[in-house]
Amino acid sequence: MIVAPRVRTGCDVVDVARLAAAIARRPGLLQRLFTDHEIAECCRGEVAVDSEVGRARFAARFAAKEAARKALGDLRLPFHAVEVRSRPDGAPELWLHGEPSELSCSLSHDAGIAMALVVGVELAPT
Ligand SMILES: CC(C)(COP(=O)(O)OP(=O)(O)OC[C@H]1O[C@@H](n2cnc3c(N)ncnc32)[C@H](O)[C@@H]1OP(=O)(O)O)[C@@H](O)C(=O)NCCC(=O)NCCS
Repeated sequence: MIVAPRVRTGCDVVDVARLAAAIARRPGLLQRLFTDHEIAECCRGEVAVDSEVGRARFAARFAAKEAARKALGDLRLPFHAVEVRSRPDGAPELWLHGEPSELSCSLSHDAGIAMALVVGVELAPT
């Protein structure tokens, strides 16, 4: 019998303006949702948190956290447990609980929407 590896996926879309409004309304929400590393990376290139680019980057990272929850089947995974880190070429990587993970992640943002797709392969029990 051939046993195919089980692929786990999660996706999420975020309304960029809606998340930006929530962050503007609630002091501390930015830090509650995102790690210091993510905040620094979203502001890379002297981008302001509340600029068009900044808002889209935060929304995409929020989508990645929700997508990771779906892919892992853990809908209560804390926001800081999932972290998006950008490689030097700009490609996103997913860190889990402060460690690099085997999950693959892709982000996109356009026309007021940000989205993320997270894919992983479930390891067979040994
Ligand atoms: C990288 C690229 C595919 C992004 O596509 P886009 O339509 O411009 O933008 P999207 O909204 O779909 O995607 C943006 C996300 O792509 C991701 N991304 C950036 N570089 C990437 C890469 N090399 N591989 C995979 N994903 C990448 C990032 O997560 C980015 O989001 P972020 O800025 O919030 O971190 C596109 O810019 C491209 O083809 N670039 C070619 C190289 C280039 O022109 N570089 C310019 C800088 S030198």
